[in-house]
Amino acid sequence: MGAANPIRWQAEALWEAVAPRLPGFTVEVLPEVDSTNSELMRRARAGQTEPVLLVAERQTAGRGRLGRAWHSQGAPAQPPDGGLPALTFSLGLSLAPRDWSGLSLAVGTSLAESLHPQVQIKWPNDLWLQGRKLAGILIETAGAGGSSAAGRYAVVGVGINLHPRPADGLSTAPAWLQERVPQIDAPQALQCVLAPLVQALVVFEAEGFAPFQARFQARDALRDQAVLLSDGTAGTACGVGGDGALLVHTSAGMKQITSSEVSVRPAGAASA
Ligand code: BTN
Repeated sequence: MGAANPIRWQAEALWEAVAPRLPGFTVEVLPEVDSTNSELMRRARAGQTEPVLLVAERQTAGRGRLGRAWHSQGAPAQPPDGGLPALTFSLGLSLAPRDWSGLSLAVGTSLAESLHPQVQIKWPNDLWLQGRKLAGILIETAGAGGSSAAGRYAVVGVGINLHPRPADGLSTAPAWLQERVPQIDAPQALQCVLAPLVQALVVFEAEGFAPFQARFQARDALRDQAVLLSDGTAGTACGVGGDGALLVHTSAGMKQITSSEVSVRPAGAASA
């Protein structure tokens, strides 16, 4: 954004909402960066592992899961309200859970609950609105240094569409938040999601995925849907296990899918 129309991020309010739970927390807003995840991962590898929120008004090389690009390039025309087309941020913090399984689902659950009652989670990392992608989550970790009890430095990257965007190769045009929350802008969306997200991460570190399982199920976009796995297996999605693995009933019995193995999409959809 140009200086004539600066975006008011309310960094102090963000800091006040989070600092009591994350000592040493800072908030940083950049007008442009390649990728907020890449930047925090670079910093972590260089030994900077303090808790930080990094917000970018524009990413030149935003990244998604499985090596895909997050649609920073080819951004749409400036939204009519003069705001940002999407909210893009990464939260970096040290975490030492006993078990990392289900972290992306805990993050997705928190974000979905903060945004709108109709937002669902498409296992394992997307938020959906009526079958269309509203937001994506990219979680990466780096060694936190020191003893293994110190855990790892987690970078939780989130991109939420606020305005209509081009389909960018997707079979279905993405959803956008203003469809359901008219006039919400990027700073307001960040205020909605940040403190609950930090709280969710604190709970996840202490208790793992268990406290999120029922909450996830209530927003599971694939529940009871016919799905197709990327290995060609067809089945019916039956929720998630206590470790966050997707349960798929197939002709060969119940399969437990972990995100590293295969991707999954509703049968009939051209791409996930
Ligand atoms: C996906 O859809 O596969 C995940 C998309 C994650 C995008 C966010 S935007 C902020 C952060 N920085 C990145 O480069 N990616 C994440």
